[in-house]
Amino acid sequence: MKRRWFFASILFILSASLTLALSSYCLPNSVTLRSLAEKRGIEIGAAVAIPPLKTDPIYQQLLANQFNTASVENVMKFEYLHPQPNTYTFEQADTLVNFAKSHNMKVHAHVLVWHIQLPKWLTEGKFSRDQLITILRDHIHKVVGYYKGKVQAWDVVNEALNDDGTLRNTIWLQGIGPDYIEMAFRWAREADPNVELYYNDYGADGLGPKSDAVYSLVKKLKAKQVPITGVGLQMHVGLGWAPPKGDVLANINRLGDLGLNVHISEMDVQTYDGPGTEEEKLQKAANLYADMMSACLSNRACKSFTVWGLTDKFSWLPGFTGKPQSPLLFDTNYRPKPAYYALIDVLQNK
Ligand code: XIL
Repeated sequence: MKRRWFFASILFILSASLTLALSSYCLPNSVTLRSLAEKRGIEIGAAVAIPPLKTDPIYQQLLANQFNTASVENVMKFEYLHPQPNTYTFEQADTLVNFAKSHNMKVHAHVLVWHIQLPKWLTEGKFSRDQLITILRDHIHKVVGYYKGKVQAWDVVNEALNDDGTLRNTIWLQGIGPDYIEMAFRWAREADPNVELYYNDYGADGLGPKSDAVYSLVKKLKAKQVPITGVGLQMHVGLGWAPPKGDVLANINRLGDLGLNVHISEMDVQTYDGPGTEEEKLQKAANLYADMMSACLSNRACKSFTVWGLTDKFSWLPGFTGKPQSPLLFDTNYRPKPAYYALIDVLQNK
């Protein structure tokens, strides 16, 4: 038994070293997404999962070498930070914040107000409007206050709109009314005068009814002096259903003209559907990554480009879609994919 463990460990270390050697084989060590993005003056980020961050040295090394921003994939959501009415649990999120600090990375905190991943005490409780306002205000004050000075940005409100541009019918809309959006931004600002505050949504990356609705929502917020720094375009796309680069750029331009920052905040590419060999699909995904990075680099308002996961091994998409997917920049063995090289190329040459 002991011998088996010994050989398993040797095998693991050998394969890990080989993976790292292979990743750096094609490029000089100094050329990374991080080094190139820093030269171009934009943030490059990945959503981080806590279990591998705690236990997997290759995951840690890849994250710190290639990215200068960490998005918090799950552990700052309401159900994690505030599991009981009077209990807050910051330990897991702290692991990430401490890792980022020791590797000179920024943290993009996610998320204060969403309709998913809420604790049962909240979704199953019966609260008056005033009580719900108190709950949300206290939550925002507490967590934004706790991370004051430690995170660069917060996603304040996530996915508040339907595809047709109407307000999504959530616990917050039902219980508080449409004002919950501006209240949330103001409470976040009260708790931290300097942190960046974002509205974040999916399917509003290019042009269309939903992105028009995001545009008019944030325009109204600006007009009412609500403290909003920018908009996150999630960019969850797929082969065959991604917005044209020109539309994304037009959207970035109009948001930038409002004086807002734009982040590509959660990019991944579903590869399951569509024609072609596996190799062709990976190349098509790479082209999409290149297009979106190039749109971002075309306007100084676009300050950050984040992928929703570090490697395919930990992507949420196979579980969420029930299909095999290859959505990210590194494969399940942490090897760089065509999408990685496509981003390197755009950052270096375009
Ligand atoms: C996803 C996480 O990646 C999953 O691990 C979790 O089970 C569900 O949420 N839009 C968002 C993110 O704003 O919070 C979602 O993250 C993906 C879609």
